[in-house]
Amino acid sequence: MDLTQCPRPKTLLPVSILILGIALATVSAQSGSLDKLPWMNASLSPDERAAMVVKQMTIDEKITLLHGTGLKDLSPMSPLARDSNGGAGYVMGIPRLGIPAIQMSDAAYGVRQSGENGRYSTALPSDLGAAASWDLDAGYEYGALIGRELRAQGYNMSLGGGVNITREPRNGRTFEYMGEDPILAGRRVGSVIRGTQAQHVIGDIKHYALNDQESGRNAVNVHIDKRPMRESDLLAFEIGIREGHPAAVMCSYNRVNGDYACENSYLLTDLLKKDWNFKGFVLSDWQGAHSTAKASAAGLDHEEPGEIFFGDAMKQAVQSGRVPMIELDEHVHRILRSMFACGVIDDPPQKSVVDVVGGFEVSRRIAEHGIVLLRNENSQLPLDASRLHSIAVIGAHADVGMISGGGSAQVDPPGGNAIMPPGKGATKWQDHIWFPTSPLKTIRAKAPAAKVQFDPGTDSASAAALAKSAEVAIVFAYQWESEGMDLDSLSLPEHQDDLIAAVAAANPHTIVVLETGSSVTMPWAGQVSGILEAWYAGSQGAEAVANVIFGDVNPSAKLPITFPRSEADLPHRSIVKPPRESTTNGEPDAWKKIAAGLPAFQTTYDEGLKVGYKWYDAEKKEVLFPFGYGLSYSTYSYSALRVTPVGTSGGNMRLNFTVTNTGSRPGVEIAEVYAALPAAAAEPPKRLVGWSRVKLNPAQSKEVTVEIDPRYLSIFNVERNAWQLVPGDYTFLVGGSSQNLPLQESVSLK
Ligand code: BGC
Repeated sequence: MDLTQCPRPKTLLPVSILILGIALATVSAQSGSLDKLPWMNASLSPDERAAMVVKQMTIDEKITLLHGTGLKDLSPMSPLARDSNGGAGYVMGIPRLGIPAIQMSDAAYGVRQSGENGRYSTALPSDLGAAASWDLDAGYEYGALIGRELRAQGYNMSLGGGVNITREPRNGRTFEYMGEDPILAGRRVGSVIRGTQAQHVIGDIKHYALNDQESGRNAVNVHIDKRPMRESDLLAFEIGIREGHPAAVMCSYNRVNGDYACENSYLLTDLLKKDWNFKGFVLSDWQGAHSTAKASAAGLDHEEPGEIFFGDAMKQAVQSGRVPMIELDEHVHRILRSMFACGVIDDPPQKSVVDVVGGFEVSRRIAEHGIVLLRNENSQLPLDASRLHSIAVIGAHADVGMISGGGSAQVDPPGGNAIMPPGKGATKWQDHIWFPTSPLKTIRAKAPAAKVQFDPGTDSASAAALAKSAEVAIVFAYQWESEGMDLDSLSLPEHQDDLIAAVAAANPHTIVVLETGSSVTMPWAGQVSGILEAWYAGSQGAEAVANVIFGDVNPSAKLPITFPRSEADLPHRSIVKPPRESTTNGEPDAWKKIAAGLPAFQTTYDEGLKVGYKWYDAEKKEVLFPFGYGLSYSTYSYSALRVTPVGTSGGNMRLNFTVTNTGSRPGVEIAEVYAALPAAAAEPPKRLVGWSRVKLNPAQSKEVTVEIDPRYLSIFNVERNAWQLVPGDYTFLVGGSSQNLPLQESVSLK
């Protein structure tokens, strides 16, 4: 079976064209209607169609598909082509052959650059925040919304799908990724990609691979052993590709074990194209290509954003025999077959008005299912609006908006940055951008009888005074992140820890709402009565937060990353910073240094397999909030675990257990299944192998079945270069968080 292609588009062509068959005569530019070109027969496979086109192409046409046409700030590429739709990438089409341009846009949590193009995009919650729902259907919906809005804006390719696992929570792009567990992240990204590609948009998975720090990302050389790389970082990609069938993979800036990711034959050819049978194309991250012949042979198919290596240089390399024609054809074939497979030729995007209201609804629902209730002393939450007379709302511009994540993920807020005066909201790269979704307004709307007052939180004493005068204090706190920088620390910036401590000292009913891109430390955690992690909550964040605070929504999300007690508990004291010679620091002509390959500096992931919770488990370090943790306004109990081997091949397991809602509200419990592998496997204490979202009314019980894929129980055997099930005892652990696993049963595998 072909594992890596977009879903076949619906046949949209008239039957008369379909019966043309595959008879292929030489096609000239004047051969009549483009619809009659033989490769426009949608009943043929994408490979058949691509092969027909490649045969007709001149070398110049082939080269055209191998690169973008430049980005305005990155010399020396050609200026943006006239027909570009204004996104991050534009690849010219071949009109005489009916091949349209590829219009690429960043789309991590919504479509980027809508502001400068005079358009509108929905901001979904950050990828990490949405991943906290552990809901694959919602992942599909997330991707589908992005796909629809891309098409409405005239794009036919997404640059979303970030799935670098959280080895280093201070990585400035943590919010763009899907957490620290490869199975959760991989399955999640797969569902997002399926949703996007179902809209007939080319989907993408990135940044392949191990781009886990932004500091010196164009130069850093990541050292990591094969086994941990396969079992964690690369496993997220492997699963995402297997389940999502993205048509494109974006290789990353950094080096991996010596070679740049975009010219790394182990990553691009041995694994991706051979082992994983990836049929789509590999494109470089923007200025992530560093050579012509080497990169081409290693498996890079396409250079972005310009043509330093895959334009004239490629033509010369082909003509001089340094790059075989067959290799060039393979790159072109992969690009064309992706376009056919995803439907961008049969069903090109039609510009239309984005469905703003529909987008709000999806964004709010996804935010509600991603908000994690971390602490709820004495059932402080949900608040009962009918009994409250006064509420103090404090901090983080909660009067006007909620923070969003920056860099190429940034979605533009309608009307501009909410903290700027009306009409002055133009935004630029790495501004802290607040979306116009006001917690103060939504809280006022929920509690119309209460006096709801706001304090900006810039002066702790004034905030504490307001808190003291109110029955409940709700402090909004934020941590901003962006591409192009890493966090200096996991502490909340701008003295927000002091602010929270001061408010908590003034009011015993203090609730903290966190708007963060990664984990944060919370020295005040024991002093407040409620903590909600709202992440970057998107266009409708304030509505979602208010719905949780006032109980219209019963929280169900669980953390996709660990929150450590202190930074000293992380595997690395700090992120290795680049020496001066391997940075560009905004120098003019920086591209020359990048293209030439900056001097490498080294980072070593010697924690190996111990990523995220596996590190804290193995090192026996207590954490603040564990992976998989999250409270509800209800409570749940677990019972009656049975583990049954299925089939004869070994390793397929079926788990049955019962979950009961022991509280008084309807809710959804995410039931988590972990496995402890036999000692001989030499693994960290346990790994997530499955989960189920269980919807339960009060007092209701349900029997839950979770099937375990044997691949999730395997280890990577480097000597055999293969996955292996180690014989011995496997213990399955079931419960509501990685540290609350009341059910256990062991089975022996021969
Ligand atoms: C980022 C990519 C992004 C590309 C195009 C790069 O700087 O790393 O994630 O897709 O720019 O904007």
